[in-house]
Amino acid sequence: MKKFLKIRLKKNKSKIICLTTYSKNIASIIDKHCDLVLVGDSLGSVLYNFSSTKKVTLDMMIEHSKSVRMGVKKSLMVVDMPHNTYRNPKEALKNAKKIISKTKCDAVKLEGGKKVFQTIKTLVKNKIPVMGHLGVLPQSAKNFKFKGKKITERKIILRDSKLLEEAGVFSMVLECIESSLAREITKTVNVPTIGIGASIHCDGQVLVTDDLIGLNKISARFIKRYLNIKKQINDAVLKFKKDVTQNKFPTKKHSY
Ligand code: KIV
Repeated sequence: MKKFLKIRLKKNKSKIICLTTYSKNIASIIDKHCDLVLVGDSLGSVLYNFSSTKKVTLDMMIEHSKSVRMGVKKSLMVVDMPHNTYRNPKEALKNAKKIISKTKCDAVKLEGGKKVFQTIKTLVKNKIPVMGHLGVLPQSAKNFKFKGKKITERKIILRDSKLLEEAGVFSMVLECIESSLAREITKTVNVPTIGIGASIHCDGQVLVTDDLIGLNKISARFIKRYLNIKKQINDAVLKFKKDVTQNKFPTKKHSY
């Protein structure tokens, strides 16, 4: 059975574990524990200090994804389609095919609801597995405030979740969505919801690995840091510096 169908079948059975990463070494560690590994366009802010993901290009996504592919053996590998690469179904199909052929990923993710309905339908018709993304949409967001406080906003997001399901997504990310709305969407749609800042009610959770391990500056309430790897790297570098300064490295063991 195709990997993306296995993800669909996890709904109401077991929680789905998803992490975002951008390179081989981290990918090979998280792959063992994830169901889904996402090459997110968050790499724009996390690695390149861009003020928004709008500046991320198709080539950047492809190069990072090639690296991630080397580390992902077990999980479903999903690649974000960057801003302005899916403005209409034809453009989306051309670029999704390019991403898949160059990176050998299993699926693509794109942001939006009604606006991308036809685009997702076209990709799915062409046998490209698609993950949706609702709530805060970083590629077009004016601010990063959570969604779902206002009734009108709730109705639109709920409608969009049904449209994504109808268009054929195998799952959808819910980013920064008010808890009761995330629960309602999760109960309503038959495909798994993967939350980030969208409460415990989703079928799975996603975080950016750099946030989880403390490599990135914490910038949002929904992030939980499980490790302070910055400190560990710092301590290791200090030890190396001390060894070199005191002529303790390299020893005979490390020399030819
Ligand atoms: O770009 C990204 O990393 C994402 C996740 C945060 C869902 O879209």
